[in-house]
Amino acid sequence: MTLQYTAVAGVIFLMFYKMHLLESRRIEFTNIKCTSADEEFCDFEYCFLKAANRTYKYLSLKVRLHKIPIHQFTVNLALRKRSNGLTPINQNITFDGCKMVADTGNTIISFLFSLFKPYSNINHSCPYNHDLLVDKLPTHFIHQQFTKYVPLPEGDYVFNSNWISNGTNRATVRVHLSFA
Ligand SMILES: *[C@@H]1O[C@H](CO)[C@@H](O)[C@H](O)[C@H]1NC(C)=O
Ligand SMILES: *[C@@H]1O[C@H](CO)[C@@H](O)[C@H](O)[C@H]1NC(C)=O
Ligand SMILES: *[C@@H]1O[C@H](CO)[C@@H](O)[C@H](O)[C@H]1NC(C)=O
Ligand SMILES: *[C@@H]1O[C@H](CO)[C@@H](O)[C@H](O)[C@H]1NC(C)=O
Repeated sequence: MTLQYTAVAGVIFLMFYKMHLLESRRIEFTNIKCTSADEEFCDFEYCFLKAANRTYKYLSLKVRLHKIPIHQFTVNLALRKRSNGLTPINQNITFDGCKMVADTGNTIISFLFSLFKPYSNINHSCPYNHDLLVDKLPTHFIHQQFTKYVPLPEGDYVFNSNWISNGTNRATVRVHLSFA
C-alpha cells in the first residue's frame, strides 16, 4: 500500500517536473538572412531580428515584388537540426504556394504555414499583386505552435525557404533558431 502511494507520488512529481522543464525552455532566433536571387523580380526592403526586451523578440521582413501580379509560385521549405547524430529532423518539402493557404489536408504544410501565417499578408490564394511581409513574428508564437503540435528536441535549427516562380528560384529566407 505505502509502496503504491510512493510510486503514484513519484509519477506525479515526474509529470510536473517534466512540464516545468518544457515551460522553462525557450526558442530564440539566432540569425536571419534574406537573399534575392533575382533583383528584377524581387528585393528585400528589410529583413531583421529585434529584441524589444528579454521576453519579446521578433522577426520582420518585407519583399518588394517587381513583376506583379504573381499567378504561380512554389515554396521549398526545409527544417534541419544541426547535430552530430541522433534523431535529426530533416524535413524538406516543396509545394504550390498558391494552394498553401487552402491546403488543410497536408499536416506538414499547414503546420509550417501556421508558424507565420497570422503575422503575414501571405494569407490568401493567388494572384499576389502586392509586396509581401512578415510583421513582428514573435518567438513566443513559434514556441506555442511547436509545443502545440510537435515536441521539438533541444538544439539548433536552420529553417530554409526558397521562393520559386516559373521554375526559377527568386529569393531565399533562412532563419536560425535555437531551442534550449
Ligand atoms: C516587452 O515589450 C512588450 C512590447 O513593447 C511589452 O508588451 C512587454 O510588457 C515587455 N515585457 C517586459 C518584461 O518588459
Ligand atoms: C531541399 O530540396 C530541394 C529540391 O530537391 C533542394 O533544391 C534544396 O537545396 C534542399 N534544401 C535543403 C536545405 O537541403
Ligand atoms: C491578410 O493579411 C492582411 C494584412 O495583415 C489583412 O489585412 C487581411 O485581413 C488578411 N486576410 C485574411 C484572409 O486573413
Ligand atoms: C510566368 O509564366 C507565365 C505564364 O507563362 C507568364 O505569364 C509570366 O509572365 C511569367 N512570370 C515571370 C516572372 O516570368
